[in-house]
Amino acid sequence: MQLVTDLEQWRQLRSELNVSVGFVPTMGALHEGHLSLVRRSVAENEQTVLSIFVNATQFNNSADLESYPSSIDQDLQHAQSAGVDFVLMPNYSQMYPDDFRFQMHEEIFSRDLCGNDRPGHFSGVLTVVLKLLNLVQPEKAYFGLKDYQQYLLIKDMCAGLFLPTQIIGCETLRENDGLAMSSRNRRLDPIARSLAGRFNEILYQSGTDAEAAAALQGLGCSVAYIKTQYGRRFGAIEIALQGDSVRLIDNLVPKNLQANLSAVDLPAPGVS
Ligand code: PAF
Repeated sequence: MQLVTDLEQWRQLRSELNVSVGFVPTMGALHEGHLSLVRRSVAENEQTVLSIFVNATQFNNSADLESYPSSIDQDLQHAQSAGVDFVLMPNYSQMYPDDFRFQMHEEIFSRDLCGNDRPGHFSGVLTVVLKLLNLVQPEKAYFGLKDYQQYLLIKDMCAGLFLPTQIIGCETLRENDGLAMSSRNRRLDPIARSLAGRFNEILYQSGTDAEAAAALQGLGCSVAYIKTQYGRRFGAIEIALQGDSVRLIDNLVPKNLQANLSAVDLPAPGVS
């Protein structure tokens, strides 16, 4: 496995790679969910590139950026054992020589759900993903479906801009109690962790979005949104920690929509 921090060096290396390339973009703090994407890429491509870049432009809150977990040494070990060929780890000035003067915006779906309470978040995500796809030029890129809205926006961006990469959504990996795996879970203390384990069950069992929101508020969580659309229930909550909080998101097909999946699991609006 080769670690590349210099993008000029990477572009030279990429121009010499005449094989199929799979790509897993991350912000580090790797967990089993990320590694499942890597394993799928390794199985489906000749070479796999993993990027680790904590993308400041997608954080609308500086405290959230500062507290984002980081574990580079461990990440590199995990990446190597999972079969990654190249780790791309540029810094901000390498990724943003334009200092974010050029941005990618989506005007409709990016304003809903997470985009509603995190203004600008998806412009940061789409801009950095577009840059990374241009740099890596992968045949396939892998994204976890925990970030379902992100996945749909990236898939639609690629279709809308005629990018050649196939965007592949991979099932959410969950802990034993059903909590969706996330880098942010590391920040949960034991009390917050046991609360977080109720999130997916409440999203699944509740008859309505209002009931789910009330149940979560009853546990002391602050609810950013709970919304059922396109046959899935989407939710974002904040769980308080000492003097701080952790934001968690999840989405699933709730119990009362499971029976008739084919009728309700409509795709989100989009070009792809
Ligand atoms: O899902 C993430 O970790 C990030 O949003 C991504 C896709 C790596 C872009 O920074």
